[in-house]
Amino acid sequence: MRKKTTIPEILLMKSEARKITVLTAYDYPTARLVDAGGVDAILVGDSAGVVFGGCENTLPVTMDEMLYHVKAVVRARPKALVIADMPFMACQSGELEALKNCGRMLKEGGAEAVKIEGGTNMSSIIRAVTDMDIPVMGHVGLTPQSVHRMGGYKVQGRKDQAEKILEDAQAVQDAGAFAVVLEGIPARLAARITELLDIPTIGIGAGPSCDGQVLVIHDILGLCEKYSPKFVKRYADLAPVITEAARQYVTDVKEGHFPTEEHSFS
Ligand code: KIV
Repeated sequence: MRKKTTIPEILLMKSEARKITVLTAYDYPTARLVDAGGVDAILVGDSAGVVFGGCENTLPVTMDEMLYHVKAVVRARPKALVIADMPFMACQSGELEALKNCGRMLKEGGAEAVKIEGGTNMSSIIRAVTDMDIPVMGHVGLTPQSVHRMGGYKVQGRKDQAEKILEDAQAVQDAGAFAVVLEGIPARLAARITELLDIPTIGIGAGPSCDGQVLVIHDILGLCEKYSPKFVKRYADLAPVITEAARQYVTDVKEGHFPTEEHSFS
């Protein structure tokens, strides 16, 4: 029988060189399905705003929306560790606000950890949150909430920017985070950071040397037809399957093939 994944187990996985697997989920059925697939952690990402809610970027996502998604995922009672992503401005306006909002993710949402974007700029906030025993996963490199500063979703940490990303990752560890997402950085830089840090690095578009990997569930299932980043591997192509099922249903109803006696009450 599979055991519940805990923070100490995630830390142990790095020391034993066992890769850590993370997928996003935003609802009850998806959480059940990815958990059955054996992921170590489920990230209730603010990517929900984009792939679930249809927003241009993650900036409009609110605490209430995230709490709704976190509660739905937690109701699946996954063995995977449940990590709640902190939406834009839930932590940025000060320690007190950050503590209140991170606390809500555990107290009301039932999450077991939170994820906060940012490096040196967020280290005092991460320290305040971890000091209250709320486990924090950091997130440095291409941080989607910084889309306007970056001028789009561009690879970070190339050439003379590399030291800054390294400093950010180190700051997140020093502030007490139990893991850090490295997003959209060169593979060699991610390998360097992974070697330097004691805490696990979880890569997305950061090459194969990270201690673990995270991907967005809609991307791996082929549900987002608009855009597929280079770092995504598609494991299923569900969009045409869903459209075809809808098409067959429409035809059946219009032509009188559904419902039949089989689907009717006497
Ligand atoms: O919101 C999210 O899904 C994320 C991952 C892509 C790391 O932050």
